[in-house]
Amino acid sequence: MTESTTPSPQSILVLGAGELGLPVLRNLARVAKRSPGSTISVLLRASTIDSQVPEKKADIDELRRLGVHMVAADLVNDSIEQLAEVFAPFDTVIGCAGMVAGRETPMKLATAALKSGIKRYFPWQFGVDFEVIGRGSPQDLFDAQLDVRELLRAQDKTEWVIISTGMFTSFLFEPVFEVVDFENGAVNALGSLDTSVTLTTPGDIGKLTAEIVFFEPRLRNEIVYLSGDTLTYGQVASLLERVLGRPFKRNVWTVPHLMQELEKDPTHHIKKYRAVFAQGRGVAWPKAGTFNEQQTIQVTTAEQWARENLANE
Ligand SMILES: NC(=O)c1ccc[n+]([C@@H]2O[C@H](COP(=O)([O-])OP(=O)(O)OC[C@H]3O[C@@H](n4cnc5c(N)ncnc54)[C@H](OP(=O)(O)O)[C@@H]3O)[C@@H](O)[C@H]2O)c1
Repeated sequence: MTESTTPSPQSILVLGAGELGLPVLRNLARVAKRSPGSTISVLLRASTIDSQVPEKKADIDELRRLGVHMVAADLVNDSIEQLAEVFAPFDTVIGCAGMVAGRETPMKLATAALKSGIKRYFPWQFGVDFEVIGRGSPQDLFDAQLDVRELLRAQDKTEWVIISTGMFTSFLFEPVFEVVDFENGAVNALGSLDTSVTLTTPGDIGKLTAEIVFFEPRLRNEIVYLSGDTLTYGQVASLLERVLGRPFKRNVWTVPHLMQELEKDPTHHIKKYRAVFAQGRGVAWPKAGTFNEQQTIQVTTAEQWARENLANE
């Protein structure tokens, strides 16, 4: 890592403090100390900032202790002009609010970011490689992400960085995804047993995003790839057997089968994800060549994650 040059101070605004935003904020607060004069802020609804719900209050208190400033705004109800005004005082805006309010929001936020005149924008695209997947995929939300990429590429006033992370590691093992069936001891491979998937934990995404934001020479107008692990569904079954010490049957859910399932239920989000992951395009890339490998930053493999989180399954 280029530690010899002190990174320029930045004023950074993170949108949202959920599953992804919190680790991004924690790591930014830590890494920002390398570049004195930097400030970290988080945009949340006023009702969240003032929340008395114990879990929310604990998060807000933690962020305040870390020196993170609170900025009250509403990504759904505020207009593009209002959001542009909120973003304007910052150098860098990082989208971590997920798909709040669906398909329209990514474009709304990107438009506000360009209007605000900020120097650099990190859109909420912590996921798969939408360009390799292409338009018209089973997951129509991905087309909205491609629209944002086109908008960002068509201008040269605001720099942009996209961080491709693959699937959040925990999601692969979520019962609702149905790829891992703990009860019946089976893995339902998406596409085939040799189809691959790239996985990264939100904690590692937070750690690596903070390094990317302060990286010198400055990263701009590029897609940065991360991978905690890249493995086939066959390898997922084997790691479960090692970690849990019991056999896992290997089933295959083919692309035609998953497309038929989606046709029966065309608005079902999880079915859209299953079909797109089964197609195997743009959902996995080798670990070699990723930012974490190039910078030799340790990340959590799927097996490490499973050992830490699945012991009771
Ligand atoms: N690659 C992947 O596999 C992948 C990538 C991204 C996300 N995901 C999944 O999608 C889910 C979303 O994760 P996430 O961290 O991106 O989102 P999240 O955990 O839902 O957090 C969203 C954040 O945005 C805030 N927010 C929501 N509506 C807002 C509004 N109108 N104005 C301002 N702030 C608002 C929320 O605040 P409140 O506390 O007020 O609601 C929260 O802080 C996760 O469950 C994750 O598993 C998966």
